[in-house]
Amino acid sequence: MTLKVIILAAGKGSRMKSQLPKVLHRIAGKPMVEHVIDVASEVGAQQTYIVYGHGGDQLQAALQEHPLTWIHQSEQLGTGHAVQQSISCIDDSDQVLILYGDVPLITSETLKTLLVAQQEQGAAMLTMQLDDPTGYGRILYQDACVSGIVEEKDATSEQKQLQQVNTGIFAVEGQDLKKWLGQIKNANAQQEYYLTDIVALAYQDKKAFACVHVEDVLEVTGVNNRMQQAMLERAYQAKKAQELMLQGVTLIDPARIDVRGQVEVGQDVSIDANVVLEGQVKLGSGVQIGAHVVLKNCVIGDHVIIEPMSIIEGAVIGDACTIGPFARLRPGTHLMGQNRVGNFVEMKATTMGCQSKANHLTYLGDSTIGQKVNIGAGTITCNYDGAFKHQTQIEDDVFIGSGTQLIAPVVIKQGATVGAGSTISKDVEEQVLALTRSQQKTVANWSRPKKK
Ligand code: UD1
Ligand code: CA
Repeated sequence: MTLKVIILAAGKGSRMKSQLPKVLHRIAGKPMVEHVIDVASEVGAQQTYIVYGHGGDQLQAALQEHPLTWIHQSEQLGTGHAVQQSISCIDDSDQVLILYGDVPLITSETLKTLLVAQQEQGAAMLTMQLDDPTGYGRILYQDACVSGIVEEKDATSEQKQLQQVNTGIFAVEGQDLKKWLGQIKNANAQQEYYLTDIVALAYQDKKAFACVHVEDVLEVTGVNNRMQQAMLERAYQAKKAQELMLQGVTLIDPARIDVRGQVEVGQDVSIDANVVLEGQVKLGSGVQIGAHVVLKNCVIGDHVIIEPMSIIEGAVIGDACTIGPFARLRPGTHLMGQNRVGNFVEMKATTMGCQSKANHLTYLGDSTIGQKVNIGAGTITCNYDGAFKHQTQIEDDVFIGSGTQLIAPVVIKQGATVGAGSTISKDVEEQVLALTRSQQKTVANWSRPKKK
């Protein structure tokens, strides 16, 4: 048996009022449809089909890393018609799962339960119980057997009282789907080919659909406008915050953290307000993150303190470093441990050995820095000559005085001292003092210009 997943994504999404196809709008930094594609692969989909209508180029460009089969539905004639477009790809023995590109928070746990129900009972659908079922298809029963689904627009006022509704998510066998879809008609209020009609056709074949109830309505909530998108974003973030707290993280305000990727944490991590964690982030034990910090694709060692307003991307930070406030560590930064990187320090493609520090107002790019180095305030590695980038090498125990420019390529050897205010363009030997400085002049009895 092969699991094939069909994701419906042909709707125009006009209520988003956007140039971007609806399913490419993001939740937690990831296109909604990508959440659905990922959950499909989590439940073991061997083939995933996307039924699209609009913005095919944009969709294919955004999702090119996923192995997908693209199915064009040129006219949106209903959910049944949409699934029909992919039917030639379905074999009789396949297990088929139908999902929606604009229902992003469905979980693999729920879908696995649905797939098991399909295997045990032949056909299964996800349903939920709503106090206000308006707008949804209602589940109909005959003699305690599921006998059909009636859409809101086709329902009698009595049927509209029913509170068990269809989420739209189905799991069926290939041969059944092919048979039932072939029999669907559009004789209904919307003149659409309803996928939901397969339930009544199954009943005629004496195959009742099993109902799997979803507890959390948010899992099956679709996005039609930006308010619903924002609501699902918050719901997603609340869940992520909860997961972190259950893993032992202190969140100063669980409503003010954003996780846009995967976070791994050690013990006793503490995170202040308005922190954004993106991509793959690993936080060691005892890490403290200040307010308004952004961490993207980085590894933070044990007992690191990141002061407020710092931005760290593509970096590896060793144990016991203190960073910020207002530090910017760009891709290729590697702090070996016990480093101090202070305010308004920018680093890029730079390795810094243990116990070295750069406390204020500095740019270190394309550099290798040894251990116990002190980089004075206002040091700049001049790594770019307008065409090429060059390396700066600073060996162990070097002291760079404040306000120094290091014109790369240049090597400052072990134990050397560079005097404040120097522009260093030649290599500096071990243990020497190097400085470039114009002579200080004195003009006696100088009177400053005065305003009249
Ligand atoms: C559908 C169900 C309804 C269920 C509800 C849950 C049908 C007939 N009804 O109603 O029972 O309670 O979902 O939200 O299925 N789509 C296409 N091509 C089409 C039509 C739709 O790809 O031709 C896609 C849309 O992009 C959308 C999804 O299918 O993501 C649902 O379509 P929509 O017409 O909005 O169905 P509902 O009225 O919500
Ligand atoms: Ca809808």
